Amino acid sequence: MIGALFPLLRPVLHSLDAEDAHNLTMRALALMPPRAPAADDPSLAVDLFGRRFPNPVGLAAGFDKGAQAPDALLGLGFGFVEAGGVVPRPQPGNPRPRVFRLRGDRAVINRFGLNSEGIDVVARRLRARAGRPGLVGVNVGANKDAADRIADYVACTARLAPLCAFVTVNVSSPNTPGLRDLQGEAFLDDLLARVVAARDAAAPATAILLKIAPDITLPALDAICATALRRGVQGLVVSNTTLARPAALTEARLSAEAGGLSGRPLFGPATRLLAETYLRVGGTLPLVGVGGIDSTEAAWTKIRAGASLLQLYSALVYEGPALVGTIKRGLVARLRAEGLAGLAAAVGRDAAELARTA
Ligand code: FNR
Repeated sequence: MIGALFPLLRPVLHSLDAEDAHNLTMRALALMPPRAPAADDPSLAVDLFGRRFPNPVGLAAGFDKGAQAPDALLGLGFGFVEAGGVVPRPQPGNPRPRVFRLRGDRAVINRFGLNSEGIDVVARRLRARAGRPGLVGVNVGANKDAADRIADYVACTARLAPLCAFVTVNVSSPNTPGLRDLQGEAFLDDLLARVVAARDAAAPATAILLKIAPDITLPALDAICATALRRGVQGLVVSNTTLARPAALTEARLSAEAGGLSGRPLFGPATRLLAETYLRVGGTLPLVGVGGIDSTEAAWTKIRAGASLLQLYSALVYEGPALVGTIKRGLVARLRAEGLAGLAAAVGRDAAELARTA
């Protein structure tokens, strides 16, 4: 229904400031009565983290920062929803404007700076949906003015892990000064050790995922993979937005805005990093592929590069929610055409090639 209406609504939404349009969308979704999504084709099911994902197409972090409407979003057909980023105490984020549509590039730049209502509000909303079907994870970070950043991740995990299917440790948002330093080996080791311990105490069945930036070097990726394996996280999310500005961007004025770039121009770099990550930990650590997915072709390439699950955000701005169904139908057709019973057989199949050419 919403998918069918989107072509009519898009000109209205795109005539508004991007943040206002998003807030309006979230309010509308929060008002929608919860609706069970249509059953997915069984070939799309993914068994991971001790759960069954009905399909691999997830909503990426940042869309439903406050867990205002995860059930309405699941109702659009997503196989899972990552709420957040959430930080312990409420914080306003950066001054507006802080999100920009690069229409000609099918891209978005944002510098929200982890604006969040804080864990109390998000915990209350998640508790209110306890027992409902549908897999919801939470993306967590640290307050901008945190004295002890690691303690912030621990507080989020202890509080929210019992209320969700997975917690994503976000050390890759480019808009909180110093946050990406947590990807350094010594910090990361301490961070993951303490987050995993907090999860073990609060909710042992909840998975811990680590979300990384696309802008890291391959030696840094080596260290991250080794640390993630050593500390026993359940998976990696590859990747967050990029600080890079590819030369091919056509929206010259908007591309000069500070912040993280997402959408189509992120597809190549994020897919190369995904493939490099698969070559290091594939078969041991499941990967969530995110960055520039806007078609079945893009989704299938992420799977071949090593993704067991997928997430998207920016393409929704341009294509609307009907894209979720389009990708799912396209993946079913791909599996049939190749004679595969499920996605697992294709995961990482072309990682070596895509690490060079994506
Ligand atoms: C994001 N993203 C994000 N990631 C994260 O880990 N925590 C967050 O709070 C946010 N917030 C956020 C806000 C906005 C406006 C955007 C566009 C993105 C990053 C997002 O989850 C994803 O990793 C990237 O956007 C790449 O995927 P797409 O958008 O290219 O499909």
